[in-house]
Amino acid sequence: MERTLSIIKPDGVARGIIGEVIQRLESNKLKIVAMKMLKMNKTQAEGFYAVHEARPFFDSLTYFMSSGPIVIMVLEGENAIAKYREIMGATDYKEAAEGTIRKDFATDIEKNVVHGSDSPETAIFEISYFFNSFELIH
Ligand code: CMP
Repeated sequence: MERTLSIIKPDGVARGIIGEVIQRLESNKLKIVAMKMLKMNKTQAEGFYAVHEARPFFDSLTYFMSSGPIVIMVLEGENAIAKYREIMGATDYKEAAEGTIRKDFATDIEKNVVHGSDSPETAIFEISYFFNSFELIH
């Protein structure tokens, strides 16, 4: 069993597709073991995306990610990291496969509805950024 962090970004929450995203997770056997809704400030978004600090889109990305509430979940399942990335589709929605969340709902490379951890190391950092051990269902 593996765990990964999922975020429904401000665009997904604002557009009212929280339920649609969760439906796709649950029907693909990704179990939600923690969940919360919050609004990050710019500094918190910069800390979360610190790995992208040098990228030209860093300021815009962290501004966007702190622009409204987000839904944060920890997902558990077999190959959860890869499985969730498959369900999300490519970062750039124009390259995302048919039937993926980003293909169906993203409007922009930045406003791409969802985030998911990209490796086991990133998942550990990202989960602990938002949740303590008491908030995870065992
Ligand atoms: P995410 O999976 O959250 O990881 C980094 C985010 O940066 C990405 O999704 C996009 O929302 C955003 N982003 C904006 N521009 C780019 C870009 N050119 N390449 C990759 N990610 C980008």
